[in-house]
Amino acid sequence: MVRETGGETTREPEAGMSFRDRYGPWAVVLGASEGLGEAYAHELGRRGVNVLAAARRGAPLEAVTRRVAGAHGVEAKPVVLDLVAGDFLDTLRSVTDRLEVGLVVYNATDHFIGPFLDEGLDHALGQVAINVNSPLAVCDHFGRAMLERGRGGFVLMGSGAGVAGTAGLAVYSATKAFGLTLAQALHHEWRAQGVDVLGVIGPAMDTPNFRRHYDYDPQNLPEPPVPPARVAREVLDAIGHEVEMTPGERFREGFAALSSLPRAEQSRLLSSSLAATLDRPADRADS
Ligand SMILES: NC(=O)c1ccc[n+]([C@@H]2O[C@H](COP(=O)([O-])OP(=O)(O)OC[C@H]3O[C@@H](n4cnc5c(N)ncnc54)[C@H](OP(=O)(O)O)[C@@H]3O)[C@@H](O)[C@H]2O)c1
Repeated sequence: MVRETGGETTREPEAGMSFRDRYGPWAVVLGASEGLGEAYAHELGRRGVNVLAAARRGAPLEAVTRRVAGAHGVEAKPVVLDLVAGDFLDTLRSVTDRLEVGLVVYNATDHFIGPFLDEGLDHALGQVAINVNSPLAVCDHFGRAMLERGRGGFVLMGSGAGVAGTAGLAVYSATKAFGLTLAQALHHEWRAQGVDVLGVIGPAMDTPNFRRHYDYDPQNLPEPPVPPARVAREVLDAIGHEVEMTPGERFREGFAALSSLPRAEQSRLLSSSLAATLDRPADRADS
């Protein structure tokens, strides 16, 4: 079913049930203080879902929730937490235990770009925490309530670098592969019980976080970045219909072509493509 809201077309999750009925009344967006996370908060508000916007920085979160509530007439609340901290779920639960959460968007991540041994084990373990341990904790906690209710959904935000090992992004790449694999498995485990899980192969997006981590010339990107608002819309249109998706037509075609290759070749291509984007010598990645 397709419905019109504010001039935009929204694909409904299933005939006869609105997006809000299926994935509301509350959604949690983890990593919502800017960029893509803010775009998810707006897209959820546009679909009539109340939003809990979580991240570490309170001031930008307050601003995001004010904008979302003002623009879409839904409730929106900030939750300040650090997904690397062992007690983040307690902080989140102190707010969500009183609410019915029908959708969790796990958007937050951390990066390190450079040679593996330059990262340092502490930072690498932080990436494991935010991309592996915390998504697991979130799926375990909210999955139980959703399965009991017989409805709900998760979006696990992944990356093209998670499709195969990417030199220069070793830990990010390996931990993002975990999320994509977990999403596929849970999709097939929970689908029949009414809970949808969608893994997203993120395309390049020009977000503040991306700018902070990548010292690159946008001209070197193989394709122009996809606007975060479009990513959020395409992802929320896809949940309930697909197990994994890539927003942005050119990136979708590119990753479909990549996935037809042997994994070793996927890894070689992703590695040399990152080196070219960063305008660094590709020989390190090609060897
Ligand atoms: N941008 C791209 O080109 C691209 C490409 C492929 C995949 N992706 C994926 O898309 C998603 C969004 O990435 P993005 O770079 O565009 O970022 P974003 O959504 O613009 O911002 C990242 C969010 O995560 C929050 N965050 C970071 N560390 C956190 C922590 N320890 N605890 C709680 N919140 C935390 C940040 O807020 P605070 O700093 O306030 O905590 C921020 O709100 C990620 O999963 C990424 O892997 C992005």
